[in-house]
Amino acid sequence: MHELLERYLRHGHHEGIVVTVGRDLRPNPAPMGVEYLASSKIIVIRPYVKTATYKNSLSSKEITVNLTSDSLLFFNALFRRDMMKYQPSRKVKTPVIDGAVDLYVEGEIQGILRETAERAQLSVKPVAVYPGRGSQLAYSRSDHALIEALVYITKLEALRECLSKEAVQVLQERILQNLSIAERLGSNEVVKSASYLKKRLSSLSSGGLNGKAA
Ligand SMILES: Cc1cc2nc3c(=O)[nH]c(=O)nc-3n(C[C@H](O)[C@H](O)[C@H](O)COP(=O)(O)O)c2cc1C
Repeated sequence: MHELLERYLRHGHHEGIVVTVGRDLRPNPAPMGVEYLASSKIIVIRPYVKTATYKNSLSSKEITVNLTSDSLLFFNALFRRDMMKYQPSRKVKTPVIDGAVDLYVEGEIQGILRETAERAQLSVKPVAVYPGRGSQLAYSRSDHALIEALVYITKLEALRECLSKEAVQVLQERILQNLSIAERLGSNEVVKSASYLKKRLSSLSSGGLNGKAA
């Protein structure tokens, strides 16, 4: 179990899709950064405190981490949740994603390592780790760019009330730069997802994305 985590998460901070369940037992997928600490054999996730992932993790005390490099699975987890499919996990009640997943990690929440007004840091004890059918996808700059745009747009949405005007502007520029790469190099599906994000950014901006005055 730990050899697989050391191998798949060997580059430090990785991105995965964390699935949690709420009180109604409905699966909630959310892209999240994950890190494996080999010295203590735990996984660390850092959810914003306002996310459903954070609330569900504390109430159900378990998560599954679904590792993939397919940008469309990240996109669907955020914006096309009705397209997500699940299958039962081996050791926990929270399901795993039925899809292009390289590695599944089922885990129990051990505790809160840190908490600020914006973010918490949770330690997760892995209880089952096994390969999925795989994303079977060569590295693509369009995938990377779409995922970068998703990171910045979700950050803008989550933190817009506390970001400065300058920080908002930097995020908007990064989103547009990455979307233009995704549109230039991506498949039809990637291009469609990028145009959806462009529209979402423009409606966010017209809704008064001014940031706090410095
Ligand atoms: C690649 C990627 C990584 C992300 N990492 C985190 C993270 O570490 N912590 C976090 O709170 N949100 C992260 N986000 C944003 C969340 O996925 C987003 O806020 C989501 O809407 C939370 O959903 P929930 O409220 O259903 O939990 C990330 C987004 C992307 C695309």
